[in-house]
Amino acid sequence: MALGAYVSPIGEPGKRPPLRAQRSLRPATRTVALLGFGTVGRAVAQILCRTPESHLRLTHVFNRSFERKRVDWVPDRVQWTDNFHEVLNSNADTVVELLGGLEPAHEYIRQALISGKSVITANKHVMAKYGPELLELARRHGQQLEYGASVGGGLPVLAALHYGLAGDRLLRACGILNGTCNFILSNMEAKGTSLAATLAEAQKLGYAEADPSDDVNGLDAACKLAIVARLGLRAELNAFEIPRQSIANIQPSDFRYARQLGCTIRQISLAELDGQGVYAAVTPALVPLNSPLAAATDNQNAIIFKGERSGETLLVGKGAGGDPTAVAVVSDLLAIREGPCTPATSLAEKYPVAHLSCPHYLRVSGENGVDVLDALAPILDQHGVALEKSLEHSDKGKREWALTTEACGTGVVRELVRDLAQRERISESPLCLPILNSE
Ligand SMILES: NC(=O)c1ccc[n+]([C@@H]2O[C@H](COP(=O)([O-])OP(=O)(O)OC[C@H]3O[C@@H](n4cnc5c(N)ncnc54)[C@H](OP(=O)(O)O)[C@@H]3O)[C@@H](O)[C@H]2O)c1
Repeated sequence: MALGAYVSPIGEPGKRPPLRAQRSLRPATRTVALLGFGTVGRAVAQILCRTPESHLRLTHVFNRSFERKRVDWVPDRVQWTDNFHEVLNSNADTVVELLGGLEPAHEYIRQALISGKSVITANKHVMAKYGPELLELARRHGQQLEYGASVGGGLPVLAALHYGLAGDRLLRACGILNGTCNFILSNMEAKGTSLAATLAEAQKLGYAEADPSDDVNGLDAACKLAIVARLGLRAELNAFEIPRQSIANIQPSDFRYARQLGCTIRQISLAELDGQGVYAAVTPALVPLNSPLAAATDNQNAIIFKGERSGETLLVGKGAGGDPTAVAVVSDLLAIREGPCTPATSLAEKYPVAHLSCPHYLRVSGENGVDVLDALAPILDQHGVALEKSLEHSDKGKREWALTTEACGTGVVRELVRDLAQRERISESPLCLPILNSE
């Protein structure tokens, strides 16, 4: 066959199909309205505007006070607006929601679906809280709702759950789902700097927002964990009820102690099925140095799924940032097909959150001359917590101890820490973290 000959997929080789059949081979052009021209919205617009051969065509950019957002690389045909009704009444068939926050994002997604538009969102807060009802709304209106960028940024966590692992029964999801906390903890570890100084650096580099509280206190990761548990473990958890502990009390000395125990510290999100319910938590934890979770640094995310038949599957990569997250958004856009394809309402069952039981790391300190260990023994006894190992360390007039306990429940530990914080002879707020096993 001569080079360049046309191979017809239908009919005789070498003969061009009729025009109608040719057209149907090409995907129909998808018209896209973007809500939000911030870090991710801008990066999505760049992909859409700089890939002219794509069948995705940007038609609208919606943002408050949009005049200050205009850029010359967005073609003139794209309409800029701060009026959501213009988007609703437009010919855009798909709305990409990148505003963030619960409202008005949730309401805009609802209205877009009701008015017959498919929706792509990167919004973990909305999907954690309203996911099942929005998916049902999409199904009823014959539209699609995709949210791959809401967990793991550029890491295809939900795609893995949706397609690659859907044939297995998943028992456990354990990983790092917040890039800001991972940047802070891995840089504290590498440079020996304080949390405040490292957070300031993360803000300077654009890895942390001006108000990083939802990252630091674990709410951001809890929303992502709830989405993962729904899709992967078929367990419907209330993200706001998942027990979580802030990383705010981690000090450089905790990394030194962790190392003595063959570990480092990461913010871990864990959901695990057991006979009675689901263990779930978002907490800084000691992670063995030989774990792939310890190897995830800077703003990387990493997650290990454990399936009944597939065993362990690890995903690791850039979990945040405009470009990686935009890739996930555009991948969702490319995956959208014609017609009503959003799967039926989640099959997840509602579960109360159970407490984890594992060994813990405990750091306490006392004023000069106070033997905290002596003071501690009866208190640990009272709470039924058994001591395993103790590492003493003296520092600038205070005596500090790092201890490990035998396996005990996270609920018991929380009570213990509350109790210790009220004891006069113990000078600083004690810190207690779970220790992950190396399996
Ligand atoms: N950044 C990441 O690495 C990342 C990773 C994964 C997922 N996500 C998710 O992606 C979404 C967008 O994040 P982002 O980092 O791009 O946020 P961002 O930089 O704050 O951008 C949000 C944009 O939306 C605009 N906006 C917010 N509320 C609005 C409202 N009510 N009406 C009109 N415009 C409004 C903002 O305008 P102003 O400029 O006036 O504030 C801003 O331009 C969030 O759901 C986030 O959780 C982000």
